[in-house]
Amino acid sequence: MTTPAHVAIIMDGNGRWAKARGLPRVAGHRAGVEALRRTVRAAADLGISWLTVYAFSSENWSRPKSEVTDLMGLLKIFIRRDLAELHNSGVRVQIIGDRATLQPDIRSLLEEAETLTSGNDALTLVIAFNYGGRDEIARAARRLAEAVKRGDISSEQITPELFAEELDTSGIPDPDLVIRTSGEIRLSNFLPWQSAYSELIFQPCYWPDFTREHLSEALREYTGRERRFGGLAARDVAS
Ligand code: IPE
Ligand code: IPE
Ligand code: MG
Repeated sequence: MTTPAHVAIIMDGNGRWAKARGLPRVAGHRAGVEALRRTVRAAADLGISWLTVYAFSSENWSRPKSEVTDLMGLLKIFIRRDLAELHNSGVRVQIIGDRATLQPDIRSLLEEAETLTSGNDALTLVIAFNYGGRDEIARAARRLAEAVKRGDISSEQITPELFAEELDTSGIPDPDLVIRTSGEIRLSNFLPWQSAYSELIFQPCYWPDFTREHLSEALREYTGRERRFGGLAARDVAS
């Protein structure tokens, strides 16, 4: 198999990385931003077209208020400091997740990042922020229910294809490969609809330690996998 067009990463283990060093959790999140910068560059160099990163889940609001504030602050710093460089490198930024409940200053920063970079085509960086798969599916279902109620569509028209158009990821191809760092083996509400046929790779390293080499290693493992999408491998057809 060739290079995956779309790689999605659950950037996990910032807190444990910090704890192992006797540092506060926020130090792990700061080091995590560095790892994100490295990974965006590596992904572009390795020929990946779409990189989605899980930055803040709809369940992460349940963390202590101070940590939530730190994470919101880091997103703002990332956009403010890195937007110009991302734009100069031809990176297009897109955001998925529920924006309605975010602070207005964060919402406008996210919109600014999307608008400025909308014409770029080197790599699309999709940031999942205040994202939860179940929340995304429920919001999509609500919009479709409203469209049926208005009489714009009939319920029979609701197919997986139409449903996917209502998701935050409309227009974004499904991830070929989902990587999770930190050794946890679960998806934690990340792209449940879109990852139905994704290859999954779990790596033990904490996110701040993630390097270009970890990404290359995951791509090598992906290349050795056989994706069948419910069908048969080519060599088994008509044999
Ligand atoms: C991932 O690291 C970053 C976010 C969830 C925002 P964690 O903060 O979950 O780190 P661990 O899992 O506690 O080590
Ligand atoms: C998933 O990690 C969310 C992000 C990486 C942003 P969590 O650390 O929140 O997931 P759980 O709680 O271990 O399942
Ligand atoms: Mg975690």
